[in-house]
Amino acid sequence: MSSPRHYLQFNDLSADEYAHIFKRTKWIKDKFKNYEPYHPLFDRTLVMIFEKASTRTRLSFEAGMQQLGGSAIYLNTRDSQLGRGEPVEDAAQVISRMSDVVMIRTFEQDIIERFAANSRVPLINGLTNEYHPCQILADIYTYIEHRGSIKGKTVAWVGDSNNMCNTWLQAAEVLGFNVHVSTPPGYEVEPERAGLYGTDHFEQFTDPLEACKGAHLVTTDVWTSMGFEAENEERMKAFADWCVDAEMMSVAAPDALFMHCLPAHRGEEVTAEVIDGAQSVVWDEAENRLHAQKALMEFLVLGRVGDEDAS
Ligand code: CP
Ligand code: NVA
Repeated sequence: MSSPRHYLQFNDLSADEYAHIFKRTKWIKDKFKNYEPYHPLFDRTLVMIFEKASTRTRLSFEAGMQQLGGSAIYLNTRDSQLGRGEPVEDAAQVISRMSDVVMIRTFEQDIIERFAANSRVPLINGLTNEYHPCQILADIYTYIEHRGSIKGKTVAWVGDSNNMCNTWLQAAEVLGFNVHVSTPPGYEVEPERAGLYGTDHFEQFTDPLEACKGAHLVTTDVWTSMGFEAENEERMKAFADWCVDAEMMSVAAPDALFMHCLPAHRGEEVTAEVIDGAQSVVWDEAENRLHAQKALMEFLVLGRVGDEDAS
């Protein structure tokens, strides 16, 4: 049995494989918009395991698998043995004998690494404390859809150096763009992670306005991610000046886009004026989770198919 391809971090795929997946995303999206059925995963089963809440991730994977002709099964820790201490290695052995692809949303990256090491089928990271690769996959596709290639462009990240920020930094290395990160003091990108991504593609700024100067894309996320709720009060104070507002957008490139993975808190990390404004593409970004993940599942389960169809 050959070992499956997993998608645990953004850099699990190469720039060339992303080019293929973005082409397939467009092809699959166009077919879907034209009501043309496409069932390459007929009779295949996706198992989705959630240890944290979700709206978009669950919906996009479940609907996506059905639209590709397969079916999806939802498990959570509250009503499965996963929440009662069954070793993740054992769960991986069992779940991967009954399915064709697995998606997990959990806490530490180590959990999905251990699952993957014991899985017979591809495993997809649906968000961990460290990374959210499926979201950045959809975000970059959305950027390409609106503005063309992201190569050489500058993304301004304003706010917490969380799973989204880490994944943007990784993506910058893989796809060759730049990330300007501005966080409050004490919330900077961890030095070991910064070392991991090198300094060629990212720069840290103390002033969020400076980070946004000339940026082609301005993006942010909640001040308190899932799993860090105990720090909420402290974070509300620390992050008060890291709210993406019209002034920040005004110093970015004139055609800059605004993105947010959602759910958003208007008046905290972004003003209503920006997220509901003309430069915001947050609804396209959310929708593209569906299309990009369908292309990702096709790639992981079936390999590099459809090059002849992709235009
Ligand atoms: N952006 C995102 O992953 O949303 P959900 O938490 O709703 O899945
Ligand atoms: N950083 C956020 C993203 C939610 C989709 C979190 O981890 O809660």
